[in-house]
Amino acid sequence: MERNIKWTHNGVGIIEKEKTAGAAASAFLAETEVERIAAFHASVPGYEKTPLAELPELAQKLGVGRLFVKDESKRFGLNAFKGLGGVYAVSKVICEKLGIPMGSFAEICTEENKEKIQDMVFITATDGNHGKGVAWAAKKFGCKAYVYMPKGTVECRAQAIRDIGAEEVLVTDCFYDDTVRMADERARKNGWTLVQDTAWEGYMDIPTYIVQGYSTLAKEAAQQLEEAGVSAPDVLFLQAGVGAFAGGVLGYFANHYGEKLPKTVIAEPDTVACIFESARVNDGKPHPSTGNCETVMAGLNCAEPCLVTYPTLRDFPAAYTACPDFVTEQGMAALGLPRGGDPVVVSGESGAVGVGLLCEIMKNEELAELRAHLGLNESAAILCISTEGNTDPAHYEEVMEKYRNQE
Ligand SMILES: Cc1ncc(COP(=O)(O)O)c(C=O)c1O
Repeated sequence: MERNIKWTHNGVGIIEKEKTAGAAASAFLAETEVERIAAFHASVPGYEKTPLAELPELAQKLGVGRLFVKDESKRFGLNAFKGLGGVYAVSKVICEKLGIPMGSFAEICTEENKEKIQDMVFITATDGNHGKGVAWAAKKFGCKAYVYMPKGTVECRAQAIRDIGAEEVLVTDCFYDDTVRMADERARKNGWTLVQDTAWEGYMDIPTYIVQGYSTLAKEAAQQLEEAGVSAPDVLFLQAGVGAFAGGVLGYFANHYGEKLPKTVIAEPDTVACIFESARVNDGKPHPSTGNCETVMAGLNCAEPCLVTYPTLRDFPAAYTACPDFVTEQGMAALGLPRGGDPVVVSGESGAVGVGLLCEIMKNEELAELRAHLGLNESAAILCISTEGNTDPAHYEEVMEKYRNQE
């Protein structure tokens, strides 16, 4: 049965629900799998845990207990989290092609293997960060990557991928989902490997590796929270494009926290909200969004859900939201221009929407019911993940300037 959407006057769309009874957490994100994946990541040159920032002043201002933000701008020097999925998927494909078991980075990248690896070619479609992660991973193994980007891509994001060493970066004249189809066609024609973070019937393995790759950041966050005295956060905000990221993190947490799984809110741009649309239709199947795909949240500008994670995103969240651009911009400002002694977290358009949404939920009286549904109160511990830094520096500065002037 279709679900009701609650629209606030300033355009935030909300769907509330309960976790599906008896929902099963993904076996490919079980604790032992995730330990193995994290050990692989730890073997990659340049690996470091990203920081978990705590923002006590913002928490107090909003009226919540503790607020933590995992800062993925620090991941592998890539200014976004996506290298985790890229390097794990590229490594798995290389091992499969060489017929060797998955080992550490050094075990895969031996002198003998390197000669065979250098002829491998990878291709992907991307809003920016995923392509950068794949190009960076391919380069680490000494092979080539081709990257396709949708129309509207800002030049600095394309240039950042060229700078990391992609063989070619092509900005197409279509939106994200058709750009994926173009990359797939080129891969088939040339015998290259498509490393895509969305999945469809017959193309599930590589997206699964990518989703698994993201679990490392969730595992790190769980450990860091534990060290901060939080055995499980109460509320979790996850942003979604195709939903590979949100499903990877939530899938691992469903395994890790079990009954103590945090109430989870999915945040998407209001113009392109495919997980939200699927939750609205509520027939158990994924549905594309039908918006105009105009949003500043470039990394979340994806109209078709990833099949690998869709069941997790259907069953485990407590709410789905469709967020106008101002939501993420207020999150960018809350993190980039903190009050008092809170640390600065540089968070880009697709990184800050969780914090922006938390601010909105706590201050907008129309959302009091949602606040209660999620248990967002003075004792709640909250986890948000800032998935990117200032990947479009000019727009980032514009937003900071706008909010500085509002003070
Ligand atoms: C910074 C950032 N955050 C979140 C996402 C969302 O990831 P997914 O498409 O897996 O939902 C992306 C995807 O490109 C991204 O670049």
